Amino acid sequence: MASSTYFKLCFITIFFLIHNYGWVSAQLSPKFYSTSCPRALSIIKSVVNSAVLKELRMGASLLRLHFHDCFVNGCDASLLLDNTANFIGEKSAGANINSLRGFEVIDTMKSQLETICPGVVSCADIIAVAARDSVIALGGTTWKVRLGRRDSTTASLSAANSNIPSPALNLTGLISFFSNKGFTAKEMVALSGSHTIGLARCTVFRPRIYKDTDINTAFANSLKLKCPSTGGDSNLSPLDTTSSTVFDSAYYTNLISGKGLLHSDQQLFSGSGGGGSIDAQVRSYSANSASFFKDFGNAMVKMGNLSPLTGTNGQIRTNCRKINSG
Ligand code: HEM
Ligand SMILES: *[C@@H]1O[C@H](CO)[C@@H](O)[C@H](O)[C@H]1NC(C)=O
Repeated sequence: MASSTYFKLCFITIFFLIHNYGWVSAQLSPKFYSTSCPRALSIIKSVVNSAVLKELRMGASLLRLHFHDCFVNGCDASLLLDNTANFIGEKSAGANINSLRGFEVIDTMKSQLETICPGVVSCADIIAVAARDSVIALGGTTWKVRLGRRDSTTASLSAANSNIPSPALNLTGLISFFSNKGFTAKEMVALSGSHTIGLARCTVFRPRIYKDTDINTAFANSLKLKCPSTGGDSNLSPLDTTSSTVFDSAYYTNLISGKGLLHSDQQLFSGSGGGGSIDAQVRSYSANSASFFKDFGNAMVKMGNLSPLTGTNGQIRTNCRKINSG
């Protein structure tokens, strides 16, 4: 009796230590910084809000950083490392170069956090929270961000080149790409709803507007004015033609009328080899943004759980762009 109570107490004490301080925990927790840096979340939110106020697109850019971090060897901020003499980082990958943005906003958050709680809040967690707060800032949904990720000491250009899906993929390719990361087709469709905000370059949608047959003609013609068949590679167009600064379900409504900007976007509606179930899901999200929001939030939590470094793995970078010296 007495010894079983003793063991229970020990167990409970150890559990709380692990739970609250994350010493050996492999699990992320929303309260990870509640004693070590209680203002962390409000600081990130206020930097997101002022960055989005200054430029609405920044909300989209910050959301995309989380995706491109997590899909390449997990959510470990490997994406943020600048090139060094020893390696070329992930920023130089095909999908990232001349495309990703928002690094300075992450730097601002990091430097404010280093001032109030030095060495505590990881860059990987900053990206995850910034993504959530960006979606909120643009009028979208919310979810509870689990925290306690640590930062990598390496990056992989080759992994970045092979783990970010291409806009040339067909539906089968998109499904298998996301399935390799543990996502269902349904979750892939929900996550693609991120394209309800933000912009894309002519170079990535040119094949769609000149070659695809499943595109609305007037839509294609208007895009050709901004995206000639040669030249103008970096000219921008909204991914959601109706409301690219509002996180809503218009992305799906556009797909139903053949107005997806990327080849991969349009594949979600009547795409090659598409089952009726994907079309039905697009119709349902288009008609009911609450169901899109709910599925999106759950899928974002799942994405944020991709192979985090926890416990004593990795480090808490002082500067998100470089590993700590010494
Ligand atoms: C389904 C497969 C996906 C493909 C093929 C894809 C591809 C692309 C491409 C080609 C761009 C334009 C890049 C440029 O022109 O520079 C883009 C932009 C964007 N993507 Fe995706 N993406 C996918 C999924 C996602 C996911 C899962 C998220 C987030 C969870 C996301 C968030 C974004 C955002 C927010 C933008 C706009 C960024 C900005 O304006 O700065 N995408 N994506
Ligand atoms: C999808 O793309 C793959 C690879 O490019 C190709 O082998 C396959 O036939 C395509 N599937 C359909 C249904 O078009």
